[in-house]
Amino acid sequence: MKTHTRLPNGETVPTLGLGTWRMGETARSRRQEIAAVRLALDLGCRLIDTAEMYGEGGAEEVVGAALAEAFAAGTLKRADVFIVSKLYPHNASRKGTASACERSLARLGLDTIDLYLLHWKGSHALSQTVEAFEGLKAAGKIRHWGVSNFDAKDMERLAKVTGGEACTTNQVYYSAGERGIEFDLLPWMRQHTMPLMAYCPIDQGALASHAVFKRVGARHSVTATQAALAWVMREGDVIAIPKAVNPAHVKENFTRRPVAFTATDLKEIDAAFPPPRGPTSLAVV
Ligand SMILES: NC(=O)c1ccc[n+]([C@@H]2O[C@H](COP(=O)([O-])OP(=O)(O)OC[C@H]3O[C@@H](n4cnc5c(N)ncnc54)[C@H](OP(=O)(O)O)[C@@H]3O)[C@@H](O)[C@H]2O)c1
Repeated sequence: MKTHTRLPNGETVPTLGLGTWRMGETARSRRQEIAAVRLALDLGCRLIDTAEMYGEGGAEEVVGAALAEAFAAGTLKRADVFIVSKLYPHNASRKGTASACERSLARLGLDTIDLYLLHWKGSHALSQTVEAFEGLKAAGKIRHWGVSNFDAKDMERLAKVTGGEACTTNQVYYSAGERGIEFDLLPWMRQHTMPLMAYCPIDQGALASHAVFKRVGARHSVTATQAALAWVMREGDVIAIPKAVNPAHVKENFTRRPVAFTATDLKEIDAAFPPPRGPTSLAVV
């Protein structure tokens, strides 16, 4: 189980990061969420995924507050953490992309976003969004850009847009329970040496109590969740971003133990979660 993978430009990024969907939605939970992000950072998490959509900017503020605390405490340097955020499709025009990015930067309290993603495809022409992303890169506001919720055909379309070859990743639903992308999208990504980011890697918590992952995990002295995460990351080129606020969950997810799945383990997982036999539409939440 590799701890890092490479972006197409050769830069290394962690294969495990923290998701933040449903953070930043209420003032009441804010302190607990900042503490969760800080705990993850203290445990060595060096990739955080957020979006302007999450809590309508609230999640970016939570991440920003946690980063500011860690920088002030001297436990983290900016260059050591990789921050991913996402743009609403309705903001993805040439001008709208630049303004949305400025708002995200302000909420995060950062000068640059490491990876900026189009959250899903919308009505603005991809060429406009790509041009805006490239402009933000040239201005140093973002370091890389990518997309989210794109299927293999969408990736083909993007590759044909001027500048589209600079896409760095595609973030999609991928877990044992949602394996459809193994048929076409994941091979496409591999062929283009582009790592895939897996959202909902533990099926929104459901795999934590799944009998098969409990059994397989027990053989390797890890929990069901740790086994399910290790399975998503098994080939070394998929980045999993489980979200957790509960401190016990954060500890469990970021206590990484290598899992060398045996043929028997993989057979059992395949029997419970059959791989795709043909093209399926992309799973979304
Ligand atoms: N690009 C997109 O369209 C898109 C869509 C969905 C998600 N995402 C990103 O992907 C991230 C992950 O997806 P997700 O949050 O939907 O689902 P997830 O990470 O599969 O699951 C999160 C849920 O699992 C629980 N959990 C976490 N660790 C656990 C553990 N060790 N044991 C038991 N339960 C555990 C969490 O509870 P607690 O919070 O209570 O700890 C939370 O309810 C998101 O947060 C977001 O950053 C992107």
